[in-house]
Amino acid sequence: MVCPGSFDPVTNGHLDIISRVARLYEEVVVAVLVNQSKTGLFSIEERLEMLREVTKQYPNVRVEAFQGLLVDFCKANDIDAVIKGIRAASDFDYELQMAQMNVGLAGVETLFMATNPLYSFVSSSLIKDVAKWGGDVTQHVPELVAARLHERLAQKSA
Ligand code: PNS
Repeated sequence: MVCPGSFDPVTNGHLDIISRVARLYEEVVVAVLVNQSKTGLFSIEERLEMLREVTKQYPNVRVEAFQGLLVDFCKANDIDAVIKGIRAASDFDYELQMAQMNVGLAGVETLFMATNPLYSFVSSSLIKDVAKWGGDVTQHVPELVAARLHERLAQKSA
């Protein structure tokens, strides 16, 4: 099972899905997209490091980077399904399109998991925006991530 995303940075919403999937499947790969056309707040190495740290209590979860098509990463790693969290109905249209494209491209299936309603409004971009303006994000991201956000945004405004 693969749990793909940008994870810039990982939030409690991501972790909720990862931990629940880790209970259901023997092996879970968290796959971080390397997107050359979009530089994030955190580098790929930083995202991988934070993800590895906050998922280290799940022995069946491993964290890797991927480039190109998700279905090619799946084929190369012998993975037959993708898991996606759905926060709200508005997530669904685009997710459905990607799921249908991926099954058509390579027979890779997508399973949807309902996000815990506690995190239904949490996204990495909203977290970055709130943190940028000094808002408190400590309820929505792991402690390590809150510290890194604080550090990074302090550097940026210096
Ligand atoms: O966290 P995000 O940015 O919502 O994750 C989106 C992601 C990485 C799952 C999606 O953009 C993706 O799968 N990208 C890889 C390129 C690809 O396979 N594109 C075709 C999708 S049908």
